[in-house]
Amino acid sequence: MPYRRKFLKRAGYTTLSALLTMGFLQKDRQKEDGSTNAATANYLSASANVNSPLRQLAAAKGKLYGAAVSSEFLLQEKGYADLIARECSIVTPNGELKWNATEPQPGKFTFESADAIAGFCQKHNIQLHGHTLFWHMGKPDWLPYPPTLKMLERHIKGVMGHYRNSPVLKSWDIANEIIADSENETDNATYGLRKGVKRELIRDLFLIAASVDNTKKFYLNDFGIEGATWKSDRFLKMVEYLKNSDVKIDGAGIQSHLWFSTAYGFDKKGFNSVLKRLNDLQVKPIITELDIIIDAPLPDSIKKLDQMVADSYKRYLDLCFAAGVDTVITWGITDRHTWIRHPDWMPGKTFRNNPSLWKFLRPLPFDENLQPKLARNAIAQAFQQAT
Ligand code: G3I
Repeated sequence: MPYRRKFLKRAGYTTLSALLTMGFLQKDRQKEDGSTNAATANYLSASANVNSPLRQLAAAKGKLYGAAVSSEFLLQEKGYADLIARECSIVTPNGELKWNATEPQPGKFTFESADAIAGFCQKHNIQLHGHTLFWHMGKPDWLPYPPTLKMLERHIKGVMGHYRNSPVLKSWDIANEIIADSENETDNATYGLRKGVKRELIRDLFLIAASVDNTKKFYLNDFGIEGATWKSDRFLKMVEYLKNSDVKIDGAGIQSHLWFSTAYGFDKKGFNSVLKRLNDLQVKPIITELDIIIDAPLPDSIKKLDQMVADSYKRYLDLCFAAGVDTVITWGITDRHTWIRHPDWMPGKTFRNNPSLWKFLRPLPFDENLQPKLARNAIAQAFQQAT
């Protein structure tokens, strides 16, 4: 099943009336977890400077906060660019460093849009996180998956070579989403790698990257590993294999696309075990694509939805910071440009067929008018309360 459909399959959907009825369930769920009562937490904590930029609150604790960005919006929307400059100390290009953007034709490299982001980062003292050198999506039609080692070598030399002396690019998602989404999509029970991918290829990928530029931090990035899952078990086994193969791997990118419908029943114990395992392996966990994918059942008001989204951020980040996570990147910063509002990525038929529900697609810290939301205050407070 194509990745997109799979991503959407996870999103439950029902008719509008059932949604609003099921919204009734939210109250039970909130009571169930003892989570924050919608009427109380507004995250405007009494402590000073809670309205300071998120990058400043993060820096006060030796951390980084940032977001995925798009070059077209940085160049075309001054308000968006000003928001990124004010709030972010690290950014990830949404698509500009993917294979289809950097090597659209074999051996022909283009960096204009990625360089525009790099230039913006240099101007505003922002780090750039390279995403990504190996992925089954975001690739040009001519490229097989997995690519041959020769293709990989040429790509890595071309792209990492271009940014070797960059003053802003400090880290790479060397490989993204190499673990299959379920056991019937892998030929390898132990490591659960996507069909056709051998663990030795991933090892060689990291080795080639280190031979081109070992001055950056190298990450293995994936989603669906935010708890004790079939996927996180195999992700951790791959990390251990790479460590035991003397590969340079500095960290693990935990994408953290959380689901609104399950964020309240979050697998706290399992997530803590993933964070602990990574820290024990000396592979630093960072949060690379944090957002809350809004799926059904929906509450009966935007106000309640915003409260629940904020609670989900706070709860998740408290766990991350307790485990020493020092980098948090949200997948976008404003609802205006969230990927889940793109027709290709809307979660479930409910939204695609009901434009009246699109107003509920509010996963990020700032709204479509670039105004701060409760989610932004929740993230701010999580940084403030981090020890
Ligand atoms: O840039 C073109 C534009 O010129 C054209 O008019 C438009 C027509 O729809 O398409 C634009 O390209 C889109 C691109 O995003 C823009 O950055 C592609 O169609 C669209 O498929 C692409 O989707 C991105 C997707 O990765 C595939 O690269 C999403 O925005 C992006 O949020 C998503 O991000 C991924 C991470 O890289 C990995 N983790 C999961 C995450 C969400 O799927």
